[in-house]
Amino acid sequence: MEVYKARSHLTLNFALLASLSLCFLSSSSLAWPELQIVTAERRGCIDLEDINCLFLIIFLIKCWTFQVQNDGASPASDVFLAFPPQQVKHLSLIQAAEVAGKKRKKSVHQLDVKSSDQVNGPNGAKLYSISLRNPLSTGGSVSLEVSYVLTQLLEPFPVEISQSEPQLVLYRDSASILSPYVIKQQTTVIRIPTTKVESFTRVEPSTHMRSELKYGPYEDKPSYSYTPIVVHFQNNNPFAVVEELVREIEISHWGNLQFTEHYTLVHNGAKHKGGFSRVEYQSRPSISGVSSFKHLVAKLPPRVHSVYYRDNIGNISTSHLRTSYSKSELEIEPRYPLLGGWKATFVIGYGLPLQDVLFESSDGKRYLNFSFGCPIAETVVNKITNKVVLPEGSKNPHVVVPFSVERSAETKYTYLDIVGRPVVVLEKENVVPEHNSLFQVYYDFHPMFMLAEPLMLTSVFFFLFVAALAYLHMDISIRK
Ligand SMILES: *[C@@H]1O[C@H](CO)[C@@H](O)[C@H](O)[C@H]1NC(C)=O
Ligand SMILES: *[C@@H]1O[C@H](CO)[C@@H](O)[C@H](O)[C@H]1NC(C)=O
Repeated sequence: MEVYKARSHLTLNFALLASLSLCFLSSSSLAWPELQIVTAERRGCIDLEDINCLFLIIFLIKCWTFQVQNDGASPASDVFLAFPPQQVKHLSLIQAAEVAGKKRKKSVHQLDVKSSDQVNGPNGAKLYSISLRNPLSTGGSVSLEVSYVLTQLLEPFPVEISQSEPQLVLYRDSASILSPYVIKQQTTVIRIPTTKVESFTRVEPSTHMRSELKYGPYEDKPSYSYTPIVVHFQNNNPFAVVEELVREIEISHWGNLQFTEHYTLVHNGAKHKGGFSRVEYQSRPSISGVSSFKHLVAKLPPRVHSVYYRDNIGNISTSHLRTSYSKSELEIEPRYPLLGGWKATFVIGYGLPLQDVLFESSDGKRYLNFSFGCPIAETVVNKITNKVVLPEGSKNPHVVVPFSVERSAETKYTYLDIVGRPVVVLEKENVVPEHNSLFQVYYDFHPMFMLAEPLMLTSVFFFLFVAALAYLHMDISIRK
């Protein structure tokens, strides 16, 4: 509750700041470049070990810390970030926070980041604005931490490999940070999952140490400096991409919640060429099909029941479910290993007790509280559709999601339904595990509606009974 309060307070602040910044921009668009970045450090990773910079196969989070100083005459309420156009379409998430203090005494405040439509940088650079908690006065400085996720940015090169070859990829970026401000001093560190680097662009000073490439420190780079670099390295991580996930969550007030998830999974790495030998695959796993994958793990809530996993042939029995008091893990293994370019479609279904995810708010509404993203970690989802099927007779559905989604509505009919069940449809593209936050669907429901179906059944039986009675007592003989 406290967190919730603090949040609403913050959003209020944001609203205020946003309106301030609007006036600010329109009055003088020259005011914002008067900021300068004193120091910036950017760490990009394609690595699982670093928890801070969570690895995810095809995408990387960059933790970027920098200190901004206001050299202008008027206070600044926004700080702008710039992204090159070729990265914008891969950008899945940006988070920013204001940090104060160090180590133990460090305090972090999340800030609002918005894409900025009014102004754009040169060469198609796209700007995003971070709303500061308090406007930065002249001469003042603030430390910010930014992380962002780029999905499917790594290009397999060569684009086709045989079963016995490793997978190589290209990573393109800039050695210096693209920014609308002058950066006094900066470094960029890129961590890769192996030590095997085929080649990389040198921009002195730049070094390669085991699995780390370091660009910089560079001094006094003017605004919008861009120095293209290409890194070519071995990356045998499987590029597991869920092309589409359609998840149906059906609420029944009789005590159960039914989940049905339809997956289209693809290995989006270097395409497999030539034949496939299962014997070789199984006997020499360290060199044969090294970038393929055999199984994935879906993280489900602790008290799941009636779990199934099937494809269009039927149930797949090679799945294992492990449950504990805090979580359940379903290990799924498609019928064949997935090599580059191969696809698998399957369905996972499970039930959950109603009281675990359905609650009643203080104003008498019912609400579902569940996680939005894909339960299979280590994948990106091109498109997710969450369909929440409310009980028949529910009214005024209202959705709370911590990021932007496309919303629409449908009606679903099952047996015994008269008016149909309202369905809330939420769609989002380019979804990463960071989107696995909770969302809520609130709705009004009158308990009388729960009686509708039993009443209907009893009345049907009653009429049958009366009809039977009448039939037995009717004298339909011709004799008088
Ligand atoms: C598949 O598994 C589900 C759930 O365990 C079960 O209800 C169903 O009968 C199974 N179907 C077949 C064809 O085995
Ligand atoms: C949703 O559930 C989480 C814990 O699972 C809880 O922390 C959060 O407060 C809940 N949200 C609402 C709006 O009830």
